[in-house]
Amino acid sequence: MEARDLAGIKIPKSSPLVIKMVVLFILMICGIYVLSVFTNQTTDITESNLLGVKLFDESCVAPNVEEEEIPYIHFPKPQTFSREECRCNPVRNFAIVSMQRSGSGWFETLLNSHTNLSSNGELMGSSERRANVSALYSTLDKVYNLDWFSSASKNECTAAVGFKWMLNQGLMKYHEEIANYCKRYDVHLIFIFRSNLLSRRISVLANSYDKEAKLLNGTHKSHTHSLEEAEILARFKPTINTSVLIQSLNSDKRAIMRALEYFKSTRHILLYYEDVVKNRTKLVDVQKFLGLPVQELRSGQVKIHKGHLSQRVENWENVQKALKGTSYEAFLDKDLRL
Ligand SMILES: *[C@@H]1O[C@H](CO)[C@@H](O)[C@H](O)[C@H]1NC(C)=O
Ligand SMILES: *[C@@H]1O[C@H](CO)[C@@H](O)[C@H](O)[C@H]1NC(C)=O
Ligand SMILES: *[C@@H]1O[C@H](CO)[C@@H](O)[C@H](O)[C@H]1NC(C)=O
Ligand SMILES: *[C@@H]1O[C@H](CO)[C@@H](O)[C@H](O)[C@H]1NC(C)=O
Ligand SMILES: *[C@@H]1O[C@H](CO)[C@@H](O)[C@H](O)[C@H]1NC(C)=O
Repeated sequence: MEARDLAGIKIPKSSPLVIKMVVLFILMICGIYVLSVFTNQTTDITESNLLGVKLFDESCVAPNVEEEEIPYIHFPKPQTFSREECRCNPVRNFAIVSMQRSGSGWFETLLNSHTNLSSNGELMGSSERRANVSALYSTLDKVYNLDWFSSASKNECTAAVGFKWMLNQGLMKYHEEIANYCKRYDVHLIFIFRSNLLSRRISVLANSYDKEAKLLNGTHKSHTHSLEEAEILARFKPTINTSVLIQSLNSDKRAIMRALEYFKSTRHILLYYEDVVKNRTKLVDVQKFLGLPVQELRSGQVKIHKGHLSQRVENWENVQKALKGTSYEAFLDKDLRL
């Protein structure tokens, strides 16, 4: 009997056309089914790659956690080590969201002085880690699964884990995806901004000058733990380009407003650097926000700039002229020393 090989099924040449059509039809259906299963699988794979394979320890129950807090806690199961006796200590995910020269470095050292908090620094400062959404997600997954190691990691008994994230480090660019991630993994955002944006501008200028000049024996430092170094760094007074000052302040302000808008439905707390400096109760608010036992927090960092802003810029008179009568006039205020 002669036969044609059609996908491995032998069809006698003599069979009527109807049978051939039926077989073909069945093959088509099978094909579509196989294809659909296959495509389903591939979307599953990419999705779990993007959103991370979470390895939760499901045998843990939340101890002494108020019921409304339960959705916000996690029991990560790190791949690189065992949490040992703290295996079932609940963990909260967070990110400190800020702009350069807004006191967030100092703030982070304060938080890291807590026994149960690990903030891993400015991770997204590396452009590779924020090159695209999947790079971002894989960094976030690693951090929140406690598999990121830095000098700040406390590993086993960490109860709050996160890092410092500047607005211009992919956070605004991928805000939608990041807000989704935050919702999915209950990331708590701690916004810390400087209310005196003029003061921030001055600090940005001084810091970028030092990147070139390297005042400390040829090394650049953005932060310091030494009074002597702070004094050297503070000697330099930048000149502000007053023709673009208002424009830059506007753009800083807009960035902050936009960030708050993008993440308004993410669990967050908003702090101003100046308030934290003046009122240490703000640090209690943060610890409560992260569900941590309240401790006294300390930082070894030394403020680089002291005294009134007028002593920190070369062309203060012009700066005054530029801001008088504008909505930024308050930045010139004597009381705003910070
Ligand atoms: C904080 O860390 C200590 C050990 O360093 C641990 O005994 C304690 O259970 C941790 N607290 C929380 C809330 O995880
Ligand atoms: C995302 O960025 C990383 C790091 O630069 C790169 O290795 C990877 O190929 C990129 N992935 C996509 C999908 O572009
Ligand atoms: C710079 O180097 C000199 C000589 O090595 C040292 O005495 C001084 O303390 C250093 N200054 C700073 C700010 O590191
Ligand atoms: C101030 O900024 C403007 C616009 O960028 C520029 O054209 C001008 O040269 C700058 N002035 C000084 C003194 O740097
Ligand atoms: C200090 O901060 C706490 C907590 O946010 C607040 O309740 C209190 O009013 C603040 N005190 C002053 C003097 O601003």
